[in-house]
Amino acid sequence: MLTYLRIPFLLAGLACGGVALAADLEKGKEINGTCAACHSDNGQGGKKGEYPRIAGQQVKYIESQLKNFRSRTRVNIPMFPYTQERELSDEDIKDIAAYLNGIVLDTKMPTYTGNEDALTKLLMADRVMIIPRAEGDLENGEKIYQKQCAACHGKTGKGRGMFPMLVGQYTNYLQRQVSLYLKGDRPHDEEGTVGRLNDLKAQDIQDILAYLTSIQDTDK
Ligand code: HEC
Ligand code: HEC
Repeated sequence: MLTYLRIPFLLAGLACGGVALAADLEKGKEINGTCAACHSDNGQGGKKGEYPRIAGQQVKYIESQLKNFRSRTRVNIPMFPYTQERELSDEDIKDIAAYLNGIVLDTKMPTYTGNEDALTKLLMADRVMIIPRAEGDLENGEKIYQKQCAACHGKTGKGRGMFPMLVGQYTNYLQRQVSLYLKGDRPHDEEGTVGRLNDLKAQDIQDILAYLTSIQDTDK
């Protein structure tokens, strides 16, 4: 599994002329010990979305947000001290982003054989993350999402590159981010998104968020 995970990073390193070194997943895991206090051991986040899920998130996106927190272009008071140069170098950011990206959380409860001890069961359940269904008009949500959001965030909401994964994320966290964008409190380098979000009624946004919770167990 580890060797398999490393391949894309090795390739990414080669693509940059071989200068960039492959991310060190062991180091990433070690750094994650600090992050776990708020985002949980497997990056599931916590306190019902006060701390977002970061497991499985896009590498480039994680890197860019950590740099934004560090430079305060995105304000995150709880995380600010952890992102200071002394605490988190560019190299560390690469390692932790790759490590978090590689954590796969299941959207179905595990099937126990009955032979597991309590600890094994707990560890299995810890790798599962199911966002409760949000209320809304799924058909309307799907229509708007596929037309206005999918081009960047992906047809199945998993994101790509600098565009974050939205599916599998806490609904109230996403809602909070949308209001930050609308108020201009979270800077957005893609003016497109702000424009699109501004054009939507609050109910449309709710419908999109409901739709996202309805497609979380879509494979790929
Ligand atoms: C003291 C608590 C705390 C710690 C420790 C912490 N975070 Fe966070 N983190 C937060 C909060 C709160 C937010 C959400 C801020 C917001 O709502 O905009 C966040 C947001 C993020 C985001 C943005 C997620 C997104 O979808 O945009 C990333 C990435 C992240 N944290 C990574 C990390 C990493 C990596 C570490 C460890 C080096 C870490 N965090 C440590 C509290 C914490
Ligand atoms: C032109 C590309 C583009 C389109 C289209 C787009 N987005 Fe985004 N979106 C982004 C980028 C880039 C970010 C990350 C911005 C940043 O760095 O803070 C983002 C971030 C977000 C976030 C914050 C995620 C997080 O983890 O904090 C939400 C929520 C979001 N977009 C919702 C939407 C919705 C809903 C739509 C459709 C109405 C949409 N976006 C359309 C590019 C896009």
